[in-house]
Amino acid sequence: MAELEVLRDAAVLIHEHRIAWVGPRHEARDIHSAFRIPHSALELVEVDGVLFPGFVDCHTHAVFGAPRLDDLERRALGDDYRTIAAAGGGILQSAQDARDRSEAELVELARARLGALLRHGSTTIEVKSGYGLDLETELKQLRVIRALAGAQPATLVPTFLGAHAIPLEYRERRAEYVRLVCEEMIPAVARERLASACDVFCEPGVFTVAEARAVLSAARRHGLAVKLHADELAGSGGAELAVELEAVSADHLAGVSEAGIRALGASATVAVLLPATIMFLGGRHQAPARRLLDAGAALALATDFNPGSSPTVSLPLVMVLGMAQLGLRYSEVVLAATVNAAAALGRAADRGQIAPGFAADLVLCAVSDWREVAYWVGANLVTAVWTAGSACLPSTAPVSLGRNVKA
Ligand code: NIG
Ligand code: FE
Repeated sequence: MAELEVLRDAAVLIHEHRIAWVGPRHEARDIHSAFRIPHSALELVEVDGVLFPGFVDCHTHAVFGAPRLDDLERRALGDDYRTIAAAGGGILQSAQDARDRSEAELVELARARLGALLRHGSTTIEVKSGYGLDLETELKQLRVIRALAGAQPATLVPTFLGAHAIPLEYRERRAEYVRLVCEEMIPAVARERLASACDVFCEPGVFTVAEARAVLSAARRHGLAVKLHADELAGSGGAELAVELEAVSADHLAGVSEAGIRALGASATVAVLLPATIMFLGGRHQAPARRLLDAGAALALATDFNPGSSPTVSLPLVMVLGMAQLGLRYSEVVLAATVNAAAALGRAADRGQIAPGFAADLVLCAVSDWREVAYWVGANLVTAVWTAGSACLPSTAPVSLGRNVKA
């Protein structure tokens, strides 16, 4: 992960939504003839700055209603995540909110938020359900993602997260909820092809390892890839389970055990780290990034964009945290937000690199040294974005992420 190729005075040739060639600019003049592209069909765009592969945000919960402003202040005054959930905040509050909103309203809210992610350079974005926690609302969230997949410029990768929390009405009969997820939700999601993967929040006090295993095994039987919110705050064997089930990724991992680190290191499961979440929750312990790398694990970084634990749309901010809080190198954080993040979505073959055959998803940053992308904390340096070869940066006017959202 320390190897990253930087070209100076480079050119990229895009043909039919894909990258056809990348190399020294002085060779570009002749290259189109090798591709038999007539001169008249060439469009030349000169850019100034550093061109990156489109960033891949491989973990978001971008379909939600109101921001949870009170949760942050409660935490600031000393309450913890679980106390806040018990007091009516937390995931269940967002679930009630999503149940109460129409699909059309959720589409408009998610459209604005995806636009903000795109403006910060994310061109491929994983989006989870998980604020429904009943069949109808989980499917509604996934339909919102499907509706937006073709209606805005980023590529969306949908994940079903019905096992995000036990809803209130099942609190005394959690086995029944797990059965509902396995026997009704997963088959419906698979039948309608609404998700490519299934995720579970496997954490002490949320879903146990046995429950997560049941849900993810059902998902695999229905042809879904599996991933896991594993050992986010405390360890409970989530990473080990992810490896056992050949998950594409194990995400969070601040509480991962030594055995979990070794298991991830010996597996193809990508360790997705979400340092903005720990920072926003006021946690003191970030995931052991260097130990995971030394054990041989592939690391990715993501925003975890959601209204409770990580309301940030900026993968560049997460890259800065990758350096300042996880102890990674510049090359490692850039690879973690591109190549390896694509691998965490099973899209390593065509996303996350500027190389022939890859999708022409590109991000231009107003920097002169590529390392600045992971240095200027909090600045949005993205000046242009292309997806599938088309320029698509939405208006530069500040986007409203929460205005006009009735709580
Ligand atoms: O990844 N861990 C579970 N889910 C989210 C939080 C969601 C929420 O608080 O609404 C997370 O941190
Ligand atoms: Fe998450």
